[in-house]
Amino acid sequence: MITRRAVPGAVLRSALRPALQGAPGCARGLALALGLLCTTSHAADAGNGARLYRQHCAGCHGADGRPVLPAAPDLSRPMALMRGDLALLAFVKGGRGAMPAFAGVLKDREVLDVLAHLRTLR
Ligand code: HEC
Repeated sequence: MITRRAVPGAVLRSALRPALQGAPGCARGLALALGLLCTTSHAADAGNGARLYRQHCAGCHGADGRPVLPAAPDLSRPMALMRGDLALLAFVKGGRGAMPAFAGVLKDREVLDVLAHLRTLR
């Protein structure tokens, strides 16, 4: 009786052991994959971008993208943001002429948020 009940239990445990031992690894792998997915696919936050734009850019580019500073381009024009986000990110970080460099002032993520906001102006 005892052996007959013990044997199926032991068989069951040994059959399940690889699955049970694998489970924490799987959970870790899954958490890692989900974490990567979340960080890489995190969409730009235009709302945060609007706040940052008011704070850092509107002084020259105007609240709605129409420039206050004559030398600044009109960012509300359809033609203004034809370049892709990565090219514009590099531009905003590096600056040019009267346009200050924002590297070290805004994180890449924050500049991308601002660009997402700018793309809502048109
Ligand atoms: C001190 C004034 C000033 C501030 C502040 C400023 N800009 Fe500019 N920006 C300029 C000027 C001037 C130019 C034109 C530069 C040139 O072409 O020589 C420009 C150009 C641009 C362009 C056009 C790039 C292209 O494709 O030609 C973008 C986009 C831009 N700025 C975004 C921003 C963003 C985003 C911020 C805030 C994070 C910002 N600017 C802050 C003055 C400013």
